[in-house]
Amino acid sequence: MSLRRVTVLGATGSIGTSTLDVIGRHPERYRVHALTAHRSREALLALCLRHRPAVAVLDTEEDAAWLRRQLAEAQLATEVRAGCRALVEVAEASEVDAVMSAIVGAAGLLPTLAAVKAGKRVLLANKEALVMSGALFMDAVTRHGATLLPIDSEHNAIYQCLPSEHRGGLGRHGVTQLLLTASGGPFRGWSRDGLASVTPDQACDHPNWSMGRKISVDSATLMNKGLELIEACWLFDARADQIQVVVHPQSVIHSMAAYSDGSVIAQLGNPDMRTPIAYGLAWPERIDAGVEALDLFRIARLDFEPADERAFPCLRLAREAMAAGGTAPAVLNAANEVAVEAFLAGRLGFTGIGELVARVRDARPVEAADDLETILEADALARQAAYARLARQ
Ligand SMILES: NC(=O)c1ccc[n+]([C@@H]2O[C@H](COP(=O)([O-])OP(=O)(O)OC[C@H]3O[C@@H](n4cnc5c(N)ncnc54)[C@H](OP(=O)(O)O)[C@@H]3O)[C@@H](O)[C@H]2O)c1
Repeated sequence: MSLRRVTVLGATGSIGTSTLDVIGRHPERYRVHALTAHRSREALLALCLRHRPAVAVLDTEEDAAWLRRQLAEAQLATEVRAGCRALVEVAEASEVDAVMSAIVGAAGLLPTLAAVKAGKRVLLANKEALVMSGALFMDAVTRHGATLLPIDSEHNAIYQCLPSEHRGGLGRHGVTQLLLTASGGPFRGWSRDGLASVTPDQACDHPNWSMGRKISVDSATLMNKGLELIEACWLFDARADQIQVVVHPQSVIHSMAAYSDGSVIAQLGNPDMRTPIAYGLAWPERIDAGVEALDLFRIARLDFEPADERAFPCLRLAREAMAAGGTAPAVLNAANEVAVEAFLAGRLGFTGIGELVARVRDARPVEAADDLETILEADALARQAAYARLARQ
């Protein structure tokens, strides 16, 4: 078995630390090449001491200098770099076999695309990158021979439920529908009126999953499911009308594929991201992820219900953005990132998130998303429009 060298983008986050937990269980299989963080320099230092990467990356030169001093004191030879260019370099480095893409938000796009273009095994947790650049991203995967493994638990589940060669449209493989499960988040069953005054801490208190704050808010608004719907269209060559969102509060079935003969294949497991991460790291083999075995008697029952798109309009907004095509998903994503940041900072109410996204969507034209410059410009202009609307409130 050859040793695989891994770069973990977003190492200090929820997915990043789970990835390092799985890697740490298999020192004979994996070596960490690079670890990156944005501002969490103490957390990155602790990870460097434990995993001894060749390279560490932080956003600012000042934080990088601090980390360099700490690592020198600890007599560690890790090289420390700073800035966006360094993220790209550690994603495309020739000594790297696999890249975990676990930066949150649009900031993950350029390093993830760099890993794809370098033909790496790319473990995709950063759904925003694919939402923004769908066609361009998938085209780069094919052209550069990258191996793309979905880490979002739903897409990882669907990947496991589909035939190994699933490109070319679902119908070719007898698949009639993808059933994308959703926990419903902390506010499942709430009315729109009740949602108006919820706090960031309530929104981040997810019933089943422990995640970063941005994706936790996205789960609470159901924008996460909307982004996942777009992600699934690109990953599995599916149309939006071939994907049904199924609210399943126990989060035990992670998603399903329905076939023309009436079979429905599901992937089940405890809600622990180490399962899809271990799958992505070891594919096509299976390795221990440190996850407790599923106890069906303890779970006892599985429930299913439709999503309430009146109380949670973000799911509909995402479906409409996918239908509009071009730069519309990038605009949706950018407006949502600004809105979530404002909600977490106490500057916008919970129901204001969907309202802001809809206003920015209506104000921005949809253009063909043929090149990266157009996509990045659509992202930047949507952010500007969102900040301007926030300032006027
Ligand atoms: N958490 C989950 O269970 C889960 C499940 C499915 C998919 N995902 C997806 O995985 C991605 C990561 O989610 P998460 O929950 O792990 O997020 P998180 O806990 O907030 O971690 C985000 C990571 O990205 C880094 N980062 C943030 N902004 C950055 C920037 N501008 N430039 C460079 N690095 C930056 C953070 O560094 P600092 O620590 O320095 O801020 C941190 O390492 C998201 O796209 C999310 O949708 C997550």
